[in-house]
Amino acid sequence: MTESAFIHRFEPATSAGSPPLLLLHGTGGDENDLLGLGQMISPGSALLSPRGRVLEHGMPRFFRRLAEGVFDEADVRRRAAELGDFVAEARKKYGLAAPVAVGFSNGANIAAALLLLQPEVLAGAVLLRAMVPLSEPPQAALGGKPVLLLSGQADPIVPASNSAKLAALLSDAGARVDHKVLPAGHQLSQADVTLARGWISGVKAEAA
Ligand code: MLT
Repeated sequence: MTESAFIHRFEPATSAGSPPLLLLHGTGGDENDLLGLGQMISPGSALLSPRGRVLEHGMPRFFRRLAEGVFDEADVRRRAAELGDFVAEARKKYGLAAPVAVGFSNGANIAAALLLLQPEVLAGAVLLRAMVPLSEPPQAALGGKPVLLLSGQADPIVPASNSAKLAALLSDAGARVDHKVLPAGHQLSQADVTLARGWISGVKAEAA
């Protein structure tokens, strides 16, 4: 899997010391969707933004699902491996450090799968409206990687119990999880942007 196998956008860094971001869009989105969000939450970061390779009625996604919230887990594993290979190739091509994933909805779910299946690919993750991606995840060793999980209290797609379970799964695997439940639905709110921006500044400060 070469980096060219994923249609993607790449924006180089404009300031040193900001972590590269791997932007992962939601169902029906594309590689352009989260560039603005990436610029808002981490000005100056390099942005790597692939388009999901699975089509559901013409809508790009990062893995197949059988129904809303019911995933084809064999495909989750296969697609996470493809995405991991893409990131490795893109890091070589563009000269990047391990990125922090910023994923929304389906993009957050593949980012969570990547953390559990191939922890070395990501330096951390901002998971916006994520769910548990695998019913039987492997024993991952996340070694203190920072994860911000932002859930919506009134999210009709992600039950509160599911996001709580994801937070527990990631912390049990050794991630430093900051889980906040916002007064929001599945869509993003201004609070997501503000919290993600503050959290990334903290990650930068720690790395400096
Ligand atoms: C998914 O399929 O990953 C979740 O149901 C979120 C979504 O894309 O709607």
